[in-house]
Order: sequence, then C-alpha cells, then structure tokens
Amino acid sequence: MERGADLDRAVAVLRGGGLVAFPTETVYGLGADAASEAAVARIFTAKGRPRGHPLIVHLAEGARLDDWAIEVPEAARRLARAAWPGPLTMILRKGPRVAAAVTGGAETVGLRVPAHPMAQALLRGFGGGIAAPSANRFGAVSPTTADHVASDLGDAVDYLLDGGACEVGVESTIVDLSRGRPVLLRPGGLPREQIEPITGRLEGADAEAPAAPGTLASHYAPRAEVLAVAPDEVPAAVAGARRLGAKVAVLAPAAAFAAWPELAAELAPELAAELPGDACRSYRLPDDVAGMARGLYAALRDLDAAGVDVVIAALPPAVGLGEAVGDRLRRAAGPRRDPS
Ligand code: TXA
Ligand code: MG
Repeated sequence: MERGADLDRAVAVLRGGGLVAFPTETVYGLGADAASEAAVARIFTAKGRPRGHPLIVHLAEGARLDDWAIEVPEAARRLARAAWPGPLTMILRKGPRVAAAVTGGAETVGLRVPAHPMAQALLRGFGGGIAAPSANRFGAVSPTTADHVASDLGDAVDYLLDGGACEVGVESTIVDLSRGRPVLLRPGGLPREQIEPITGRLEGADAEAPAAPGTLASHYAPRAEVLAVAPDEVPAAVAGARRLGAKVAVLAPAAAFAAWPELAAELAPELAAELPGDACRSYRLPDDVAGMARGLYAALRDLDAAGVDVVIAALPPAVGLGEAVGDRLRRAAGPRRDPS
C-alpha cells in the first residue's frame, strides 16, 4: 500500500478504478469512483462487506444535488444549504449517475459533502462522486487515523491519503428524506438539535426503513465485551466483571473518575501487562462530549490492543453529540455477530 499526501496520485488511482482511503472530518473513508461498477465492487471485497449494504456517495462542495438524486424535496435543499459541507448524509431517491453496486439495488442513495479540506481537494481534483464506506473491516470500529486504516485494510488499499486524526470522530448523521417524513437512521456528527429546526421533528427508524449495516445492533464493535451503563452504575458493573476474573477497564470522561477513587490504576497499553490481574484499568476521555466523540474509537482500539476483556463505558447524556456517542457505545455493547 502506498501512503502519503499526494492528491494528484490519489486522483490518478481513482481514475484508474482503484481504491483510495481518505480522511473526512468524521472518520476515514475507503473511496472508489461512484460511477464505476467495477471500482465500487472492489470496496466490498476489501472490507469484507456484504454487497447488499449501500455506500454513501461523497460530493464536492457546490455539486448539484439534482445530478445525483431525483425528486429532491425542499427540506433536503434547505438542509444541504445549512449543513454542507459537514457531517450529514441525506438519503434521497437515486439519480441515474449512481452505479447500481453503490446502492445494492436500492432506489435511494446516501449523499454527503464532507468538510475535511483534503477530502474536498480530492473531490475537486477527481471531479465526480466518490463512493465510500468507513475504511475499516466490516463490523469493526471505524478508523479515525491513517494508522487505523493501514492496520485494518493494509494492501487492500491502493493509496492512503494521510490527513492526520479526524476532528469529529464519529460517523455522519444519516437522515432519510426519501419517504415523505424525515427519519433519523443514524445519529452522528451533526446533532439532531441542528437538523430539526430545518426539517421538523426527526422520527426514529422503523421496520419499513431499509436495512443498513450501521443500524445493526452489534455494529461498531471492538473485540472486548463492552457494557454501556449510566455513570452511577459503573462501580457495580466493575465489581460484577471482576468477580468473573475478567481484565476490566472503565472508559469515561476524566472528571467522572473523581467519584471512583478505587479505580485509580491508569491504563497505558505498555503498562497493562504489568498491572496485577485484579487491577481495574481506567481510560480517561475528555470531559466535553465533542472530545469524547473524537477519542472514542481510538480508545476502543487501544483497549483491545491492551488485551482488556471487558470495557465498562459510562454513557453521556443523550444531548447534542451525546446521542451519537451513546448510540455507538450501545452498539459496541450489542450482541456479537458471528466473527466473519
Ligand atoms: O461519516 C460517514 O458517514 C463515513 C465517512 C467516510 O463519510 N461513512 C460511513 O459509511 O460511515 P458506512 O458505509 O460505514 O456507513 C454508512 C451507512 C451504512 O449503515 C449504510 O447502510 C447506510 O449508511 N446507507 C448508505 N446508503 C443508504 C441508503 N440508500 N439507504 C439507507 N441507508 C444507507
Ligand atoms: Mg462503517
């Protein structure tokens, strides 16, 4: 795998039908030419992702919605003006330019204009849409650094654009505007509070909503077992897990640890092996919810690398970005899929 910050090289790889991993403000994406069936097919192989699961098409700032979608409702145009470029994906009825492989045969397409300057430069240089899921293996935690991408996908990527760590840290918010009433399919980097003044109240996904892998209960899962609990339930959850002899770590905002003096053993991956088996590790996230979101996936990866068996995660209030952080923690805690 080639890695660097050479945009011309990245554009050439996309034009040749190859795969480019690139940074966005949310997480890294694994991109291919959205108009090429063959290039898009390679994404599914690289990720080990089932073909029926649709991909988001990423567009340059100023791209015309009507080039990629049909029957675009007025609410979608208002939301695009207010929130793009930014961490929002809209589901709309798909236009003819979108390769069938992108949507897995569905009549809708997810569109997003990312805010990361390197993603925008790539999109401008390429000139078309870039279909891209998160650049991790299917079912795993999304990558927020180039190193995460390299360790998950390695040589399956033709070129890895390294743009440093992602600002937002959780995936885009997905709003379905293709079915009359606006539906929140996935809370994410754009809080509900910034969407509802424009679209009206967002409904929750129901049985009619198209199956999306990101909405499976057990998606975004690290190897360790995760228990997502309210902060005041952390000590009891720790005691329960330690009785089972598990290597336990608590993942919470730094300030929360003041209430749990017995959990003082700091976690550092190089220290984990030295701590006695009955010591509970702590992993401190920033106290503000934006910092929690930014650090969440790297934390789950670090905890896996340290060989932790059980992660007890403190849920933040479901306000602003807290809704997305809580959603990802609950999914990480969801029932395990078969490990393929
Ligand atoms: O922040 C993000 O959205 C990142 C960056 C790279 O843009 N992308 C991302 O893609 O998270 P992915 O494929 O890992 O998750 C996209 C989710 C999936 O759950 C997919 O099923 C859903 O969006 N999705 C895509 N197109 C859809 C459609 N037409 N209808 C319903 N769900 C759709
Ligand atoms: Mg993903």
